[in-house]
Amino acid sequence: VTATRRESYVPICAARDLPPGGRRIVSVPGVGSVGVFNVRGAYYALKNRCPHQGAPLCEGMVTGTTAVRHVPQRMPEADWVREGEIIRCPWHAWEFDILTGRALCGAPWRVATYDVEVAPSDDPPPFVETYPVVEGDGMLRLVLSR
Ligand code: FES
Repeated sequence: VTATRRESYVPICAARDLPPGGRRIVSVPGVGSVGVFNVRGAYYALKNRCPHQGAPLCEGMVTGTTAVRHVPQRMPEADWVREGEIIRCPWHAWEFDILTGRALCGAPWRVATYDVEVAPSDDPPPFVETYPVVEGDGMLRLVLSR
Protein backbone atom coordinates (compact mmCIF):
# COMPACT_ATOMS: atom_id res chain seq x y z
CA VAL A 1 0.00 0.00 0.00
CA THR A 2 1.40 3.35 -0.97
CA ALA A 3 0.52 6.39 1.08
CA THR A 4 -0.55 9.35 -0.99
CA ARG A 5 0.77 12.71 0.11
CA ARG A 6 -1.77 15.44 -0.38
CA GLU A 7 -0.77 19.05 -0.51
CA SER A 8 -2.80 22.18 -0.24
CA TYR A 9 -1.69 25.73 -0.85
CA VAL A 10 -2.33 28.93 1.03
CA PRO A 11 -1.64 32.19 -0.83
CA ILE A 12 0.55 34.69 0.97
CA CYS A 13 1.40 37.60 -1.30
CA ALA A 14 3.25 38.46 -4.47
CA ALA A 15 6.91 37.54 -4.13
CA ARG A 16 7.87 41.14 -4.90
CA ASP A 17 5.94 42.24 -1.80
CA LEU A 18 8.22 40.23 0.51
CA PRO A 19 11.73 41.49 -0.25
CA PRO A 20 14.91 40.11 1.36
CA GLY A 21 14.85 40.85 5.07
CA GLY A 22 11.06 41.10 5.06
CA ARG A 23 8.48 39.20 7.01
CA ARG A 24 4.76 38.76 6.79
CA ILE A 25 2.44 37.23 9.34
CA VAL A 26 -0.59 35.46 7.94
CA SER A 27 -3.50 33.54 9.37
CA VAL A 28 -3.77 30.06 7.91
CA PRO A 29 -7.04 28.14 8.30
CA GLY A 30 -6.46 24.96 10.30
CA VAL A 31 -2.92 26.00 11.25
CA GLY A 32 -3.18 29.42 12.91
CA SER A 33 -0.79 32.31 12.71
CA VAL A 34 2.33 31.76 10.59
CA GLY A 35 5.30 34.03 9.97
CA VAL A 36 6.80 34.02 6.48
CA PHE A 37 10.35 35.33 6.06
CA ASN A 38 12.58 36.20 3.15
CA VAL A 39 16.17 35.46 4.15
CA ARG A 40 18.47 36.65 1.36
CA GLY A 41 16.03 35.56 -1.34
CA ALA A 42 14.94 32.24 0.19
CA TYR A 43 11.54 31.88 1.85
CA TYR A 44 10.83 30.24 5.19
CA ALA A 45 7.73 29.92 7.35
CA LEU A 46 7.41 29.31 11.08
CA LYS A 47 4.42 28.82 13.31
CA ASN A 48 3.86 32.09 15.13
CA ARG A 49 3.83 30.47 18.55
CA CYS A 50 6.90 30.07 20.73
CA PRO A 51 7.27 26.53 22.09
CA HIS A 52 8.33 27.95 25.46
CA GLN A 53 5.21 29.75 26.65
CA GLY A 54 3.29 30.57 23.51
CA ALA A 55 4.46 34.08 22.63
CA PRO A 56 3.92 35.40 19.08
CA LEU A 57 7.43 34.34 18.14
CA CYS A 58 7.41 35.69 14.59
CA GLU A 59 6.83 39.24 15.87
CA GLY A 60 10.23 39.13 17.55
CA MET A 61 13.46 40.71 16.37
CA VAL A 62 15.16 39.21 13.34
CA THR A 63 18.82 39.16 14.19
CA GLY A 64 22.00 37.11 14.20
CA THR A 65 23.80 35.37 17.01
CA THR A 66 27.22 34.86 18.49
CA ALA A 67 29.48 31.90 17.83
CA VAL A 68 32.46 31.09 20.00
CA ARG A 69 35.73 30.66 18.16
CA HIS A 70 38.50 28.81 19.93
CA VAL A 71 41.92 30.28 19.33
CA PRO A 72 44.94 28.19 20.35
CA GLN A 73 46.81 29.59 23.34
CA ARG A 74 44.27 32.39 23.81
CA MET A 75 40.90 33.09 25.32
CA PRO A 76 38.01 32.06 23.06
CA GLU A 77 36.63 34.82 20.88
CA ALA A 78 33.03 35.53 19.94
CA ASP A 79 31.97 36.25 16.37
CA TRP A 80 28.67 37.74 15.25
CA VAL A 81 27.23 35.33 12.68
CA ARG A 82 24.10 34.49 10.72
CA GLU A 83 22.67 38.03 10.66
CA GLY A 84 19.05 37.89 9.48
CA GLU A 85 18.67 34.13 10.09
CA ILE A 86 17.63 34.17 13.73
CA ILE A 87 14.34 35.20 15.36
CA ARG A 88 14.37 36.28 19.00
CA CYS A 89 11.19 35.64 20.98
CA PRO A 90 9.64 38.90 22.20
CA TRP A 91 8.79 37.50 25.65
CA HIS A 92 11.95 35.82 27.02
CA ALA A 93 14.45 36.29 24.18
CA TRP A 94 14.94 32.66 23.27
CA GLU A 95 16.44 32.46 19.82
CA PHE A 96 15.31 30.20 16.99
CA ASP A 97 16.84 29.42 13.62
CA ILE A 98 14.45 30.75 10.96
CA LEU A 99 15.85 28.23 8.47
CA THR A 100 15.12 25.12 10.57
CA GLY A 101 12.89 26.19 13.45
CA ARG A 102 15.39 24.84 15.98
CA ALA A 103 16.16 26.61 19.25
CA LEU A 104 19.70 27.91 19.48
CA CYS A 105 20.05 27.14 23.17
CA GLY A 106 20.91 23.52 22.49
CA ALA A 107 17.66 22.19 23.97
CA PRO A 108 15.64 19.88 21.73
CA TRP A 109 13.03 22.59 21.18
CA ARG A 110 11.75 23.44 17.78
CA VAL A 111 9.03 25.57 16.31
CA ALA A 112 6.97 24.10 13.46
CA THR A 113 8.13 25.02 9.98
CA TYR A 114 6.29 25.05 6.66
CA ASP A 115 7.39 25.02 3.07
CA VAL A 116 7.00 28.15 1.00
CA GLU A 117 7.20 28.21 -2.76
CA VAL A 118 6.72 30.62 -5.59
CA ALA A 119 3.71 29.41 -7.52
CA PRO A 120 3.79 29.49 -11.30
CA SER A 121 2.22 32.73 -12.43
CA ASP A 122 -0.34 30.78 -14.47
CA ASP A 123 -1.42 28.86 -11.37
CA PRO A 124 -3.45 31.30 -9.23
CA PRO A 125 -4.86 30.01 -5.95
CA PRO A 126 -8.29 28.51 -6.71
CA PHE A 127 -10.09 29.93 -3.69
CA VAL A 128 -9.13 33.55 -4.13
CA GLU A 129 -11.69 35.19 -6.34
CA THR A 130 -9.71 38.16 -7.51
CA TYR A 131 -5.99 38.50 -7.24
CA PRO A 132 -3.61 40.37 -9.49
CA VAL A 133 -1.40 37.93 -11.31
CA VAL A 134 1.09 39.67 -13.54
CA GLU A 135 3.03 37.79 -16.16
CA GLY A 136 6.36 36.75 -14.64
CA ASP A 137 5.42 37.91 -11.13
CA GLY A 138 5.27 34.80 -8.96
CA MET A 139 2.93 34.46 -6.02
CA LEU A 140 4.22 33.11 -2.74
CA ARG A 141 2.22 30.29 -1.25
CA LEU A 142 2.51 28.08 1.79
CA VAL A 143 2.63 24.36 1.02
CA LEU A 144 0.80 22.24 3.58
CA SER A 145 1.25 18.46 3.48
CA ARG A 146 -1.13 15.96 5.02
S1 FES B 1 7.56 32.45 25.29
FE1 FES B 1 9.19 32.55 23.89
S2 FES B 1 10.96 32.46 25.06
FE2 FES B 1 9.35 32.35 26.48
